[in-house]
Amino acid sequence: MNATSIDAVSTRAAAIKPSATLALTARVRELRADGQDVIGFGAGEPDFTTPQVICDAAVEALQGGMTHYVPVPGTLDARSAIAIRLQERNGIECTVDDVIISNGGKFSCYLAIQALVDPGDEVVLPTPAWLSYKPMVELAGGTVVEVPAGPDQDFLASADAIAAALSPRTKLVIINSPSNPCGTMYAPDQVRAIADVIATHDRAWIMSDEIYDQLIYGDREHLSFGSLEQVKDRTITINGLSKTWAATGWRIGWACAPGQEGAVIKAMSRLQSQSSSSITGFLNPAVVAACTRTDDDVAAMRSTFEQRSALMYELVSAWPRVTCPSPAGAFYVFPDVSGTFGTTSQDGRPIDSATAFAAALLEEASVAVVPGEAFLGCGGNHVRLSFATDEASITEGCGRVHRWLEQLSIGV
Ligand SMILES: Cc1ncc(COP(=O)(O)O)c(C=O)c1O
Repeated sequence: MNATSIDAVSTRAAAIKPSATLALTARVRELRADGQDVIGFGAGEPDFTTPQVICDAAVEALQGGMTHYVPVPGTLDARSAIAIRLQERNGIECTVDDVIISNGGKFSCYLAIQALVDPGDEVVLPTPAWLSYKPMVELAGGTVVEVPAGPDQDFLASADAIAAALSPRTKLVIINSPSNPCGTMYAPDQVRAIADVIATHDRAWIMSDEIYDQLIYGDREHLSFGSLEQVKDRTITINGLSKTWAATGWRIGWACAPGQEGAVIKAMSRLQSQSSSSITGFLNPAVVAACTRTDDDVAAMRSTFEQRSALMYELVSAWPRVTCPSPAGAFYVFPDVSGTFGTTSQDGRPIDSATAFAAALLEEASVAVVPGEAFLGCGGNHVRLSFATDEASITEGCGRVHRWLEQLSIGV
């Protein structure tokens, strides 16, 4: 790159690293195109097809001529369906005016952070955490204050640890439960304790990213911050179509923040009006269909994920040198592979980090996992495996990893 091309890019854009998970997905696609039989545990997306009623609603709207601009935050019908769902399922008191639909949950998070965070503000983030939050905070000029939470505490930050991280500059606390990448989730008592702490702060908001709230295993219960009296006016709840409805490519996410007379949603709407304008018009009826007519489809997918989570946990738990907390929600396991650091792989690669582990595994065993460094905190001791793939691939892929681990030799 010459000096002119370096100068062409803003400091802001130059500082942003591309998403490691999307890069891995692209690499797996390349290897497969070359004819390699790669088992991919990298992608954070369901392998199911989007439920038919959602597809039909979009096609019908498109063929019916819904091809023009729609209101910036989404149609009244779509926002109303979301608001009703949030009231009924999540106990969040809200109206259509408290909801904005955006191009994917990622853009919802981005707009929420842009709407709330000023340069110099601090954003408290329990780590390991989804890798996009930090760049988003930094793009807004804020600073991330990490609250590291390791596997000994199921990767869940305690209310006390969050209290200790708050300062007069804190503007936002980000909680993602169930968690990507950890696959664990906060119990209702833990949610209440964290809410109590944040409620006493002068200005801190909560961004509660609940994009995996329907993918919960066993008899666990999910509690939304937005339903709690003490923080309902300072909570922004994020959700969307991607995970629950197997619709990652549709790019539909939403945010709900009833507090302070909808000031944050109005700000997000202004930001959206000057950037993407809205989601694709004819997808609004698909949002209505998803929110109102897919209970059976969602239940079936969840139950399949639950079976896969048990299978994957059983297989990963048997791997030598690796320990793994059991998955509670989302579709990830996040095993600790630091027991392999200091070994050498069968082809002579030194394994000294999660990145080295993942790279050697891909080359030598044709299994793709996401190295944990990008997830902050103790993430660098871990790799993330998604079980959003069929049972045969889980069994074959975990078997390959098992055999590859058995070949590792001590000493570099
Ligand atoms: C925790 C979390 N939040 C938000 C998103 C964004 O989802 P999307 O933009 O695909 O709707 C993801 C996707 O991986 C996620 O894992």
